[in-house]
Amino acid sequence: MIVARSAWDLRRAIDSMTRKAVPHPIDDIVRERPRVAFIPTMGALHEGHLSLVRSARDDGAPITVASVFVNPSQFSEGEDFAEYPRSEERDLQLLDGAGIDVAFVPTVDDIYPPGFGTKVIADEGLASCLCGASRGSDHFNGVVTVVARLFGLVQPDSAWFGEKDWQQLQIIKTMASDIHPGVEVLGSPTVRAADGVALSSRNSYLDDASRPRAGAVPEAIGAAQAVAGSGGSVTESLTAGLECLKAAQLEVDYFEIRSSRKLRTVESFQTAEADSADPPRIFVAAWLDGVRLIDNESLFLNSTSPSDQQGE
Ligand code: PAF
Repeated sequence: MIVARSAWDLRRAIDSMTRKAVPHPIDDIVRERPRVAFIPTMGALHEGHLSLVRSARDDGAPITVASVFVNPSQFSEGEDFAEYPRSEERDLQLLDGAGIDVAFVPTVDDIYPPGFGTKVIADEGLASCLCGASRGSDHFNGVVTVVARLFGLVQPDSAWFGEKDWQQLQIIKTMASDIHPGVEVLGSPTVRAADGVALSSRNSYLDDASRPRAGAVPEAIGAAQAVAGSGGSVTESLTAGLECLKAAQLEVDYFEIRSSRKLRTVESFQTAEADSADPPRIFVAAWLDGVRLIDNESLFLNSTSPSDQQGE
């Protein structure tokens, strides 16, 4: 695995792997460029990130690039940028073991060089609800700006993101189709611990006393799914889930049913189910002893997840 610590090193590493010059009969040079799959991360890697690497490999990309960059511009004032877990040596070992070809570990100056003045604005319809409403509009603007910049540096053919951050995935898909149409954005299913809790780098903030209570988040999702699946209404599904969160004394940030692709509010399953291209999904964010946990799942277990239809 090549470790590229600057944009220059990154270009050299990718070019050395992708440049396969084939002499053309009329002495021209035809470049056959093998596909590059990209996995952007903020480090503190766990099995969820490694499953993205596996998905990229299984998809047949001959060259895989992963970045490790804690992006300051997606943290709002008062959020955990300074405390965000950093474990570079371990991350590089894990990426190497997972078969990544190039690990890009840029400095802030490489991503935002002096004079960098451009900001990408996330699609407002997708970014103003759920985490966008809680964390402020700068959060998703910071995400799409860094991802657009990384796409420009890596020039991948595909890029992989976890479905745990479902709203982020929809926003990045829209950004890519608008300004990086050559990059196919793909989602990979949430990886869960044995008790159902979605893996997240921020779970490391939970101490031994708090961690078991995090199980209330997937339980709440399961309760809402069960009620919806047995014919209950939107309100009844939400009430069932909220009871689980309340019982574990989690402070609810949001617990909402929205459509999967456009993230529109869902008032009734009758009308929502009619739109099979944008089926209902349950979204949760809750605070547990100062740690914000997020999760989401398809509401009807038999409905096709939009990510299953990717590449369409
Ligand atoms: O999901 C993340 O880890 C980050 O938001 C991302 C996509 C790497 C951008 O910094």
